[in-house]
Amino acid sequence: MTLLEVSRMQAFYGRVQVLEDISLSIPDGGAVGILGANGAGKTTTLRAISGAVRSGGDIRFDGKSLRGLRPDQVAARGIAHVPEGRGTFSDLTVRENLRVGAYRRKDAKQVHEDIDYCLDLFPQLQNRVRSNGSALSGGEQQMLAIGRAIMARPRLMLLDEASLGLAPSTAKTVYKAIGRLRQDSGIAMVVVEQNANLAFTLVDSATVLEAGRNVLTGSTAELKGMDEIRRAYLGG
Ligand SMILES: Nc1ncnc2c1ncn2[C@@H]1O[C@H](COP(=O)(O)OP(=O)(O)OP(=O)(O)O)[C@@H](O)[C@H]1O
Ligand SMILES: [Mg+2]
Repeated sequence: MTLLEVSRMQAFYGRVQVLEDISLSIPDGGAVGILGANGAGKTTTLRAISGAVRSGGDIRFDGKSLRGLRPDQVAARGIAHVPEGRGTFSDLTVRENLRVGAYRRKDAKQVHEDIDYCLDLFPQLQNRVRSNGSALSGGEQQMLAIGRAIMARPRLMLLDEASLGLAPSTAKTVYKAIGRLRQDSGIAMVVVEQNANLAFTLVDSATVLEAGRNVLTGSTAELKGMDEIRRAYLGG
């Protein structure tokens, strides 16, 4: 079953149109990568899905249109956005940040279990549960941002450059954890990445954006075999 179907999506900042024609299809439990140079429209694509920028075209989630919904309403449908720059709360502790992710939930016992799951997935956060967000390293903030999204029990997670600014070993750790999360939970994922090597460890297929359009879409295996992808995104 298709969980998210984006067709002919456009997006605008004020009067400026930055997405021209974006299509994406994600099966339930699937993971799709979005690649592309700086300014190609990757972040805006995620924002348009989340309802944070004005969009045109069609966005359907679980068969229903997301047209006209506010970000909180999109989140309530089961879509969690892990934004570029992470967006964790610097004056809340790690545990409080995780609780914020669960604010819509009434199942206190499972919320507690999910906090334990996040700390098991990201052991680095364990001795930091009482630390303020501001005291975390970039990698720890990224882990916390993903944890906060997990706490919403979403059906779809939108991940924006989870590796940005992290040491290569930390980026790998983060992607390994996301891979485990995918296996454990079956949460579907849209994975925006400049580091295609990392993205390809996680996703089943990917699309390349240029100037607000898809220019190439294929399975991970197909894309890995293409010279232009190897040159532009895989360093060789
Ligand atoms: N708040 C904004 N107001 C106006 N224009 C914006 C805004 N945010 C982004 N843009 C423009 O929209 C286009 C797409 O930007 P977007 O952030 O989606 O790119 P991106 O692919 O995520 O790039 P990066 O790899 O640098 O994160 C760019 O031309 C950018 O300058
Ligand atoms: Mg971006």
